[in-house]
Amino acid sequence: MKNLLVFGASNSSKSINKKLAIYASQQFTDYHTTILSLQDYDCPLFSIDRLESTGIPAEVQKFYNHFISAYFIIISFAEHNGSYSVGFKNLFDWVSRIKGDFLAEKKLFLMSTSEGARGGLTVLETAMQRLPYHGAHILATFNFPYFSQNFDDIQGIIDNALKLQFESKIHHIKEHL
Ligand SMILES: Cc1cc2nc3c(=O)[nH]c(=O)nc-3n(C[C@H](O)[C@H](O)[C@H](O)COP(=O)(O)O)c2cc1C
Repeated sequence: MKNLLVFGASNSSKSINKKLAIYASQQFTDYHTTILSLQDYDCPLFSIDRLESTGIPAEVQKFYNHFISAYFIIISFAEHNGSYSVGFKNLFDWVSRIKGDFLAEKKLFLMSTSEGARGGLTVLETAMQRLPYHGAHILATFNFPYFSQNFDDIQGIIDNALKLQFESKIHHIKEHL
């Protein structure tokens, strides 16, 4: 079985992006799935000085190790002030110092959601543009607005138009995995 790595790019224990990422992962039953919570990888704020004096923190190394064996990765990005959440960006900067192309040969499904009309589209676009520089092969993206209005914990996506859009992305991904 190939490995599927899943996380919300947020360190909130109630992350709606983690919920959406898990929901997406449930569409892929033929994988060995690992779901991460970023708050389990709490680490010092990245700085060049800290990197030079103390090296890579153990939590960062643990986080990075999950990427090594992953074949397919699902990430849903929280948007904070139009950008990555600081918890994700901190881990991202640290991990990129272990290996710049840490996403080489990995297939990715990128998503974002928020309670707003744009559903985190700005951060999603940032990730779409940036992650290929780290080797990512992005299979599809999905932006999900008004999370609480459109998502139910048991039924998943309840808005018909968004559900159809989501299903077509899943179909496309399955054809390219
Ligand atoms: C500091 C901060 C900045 C935020 N900025 C944005 C924003 O730019 N766009 C947006 O749609 N939502 C914004 N939000 C709302 C978040 O999208 C919302 O908190 C969401 O739940 C974050 O995702 P998460 O639950 O996965 O952490 C912001 C929230 C915080 C705390």
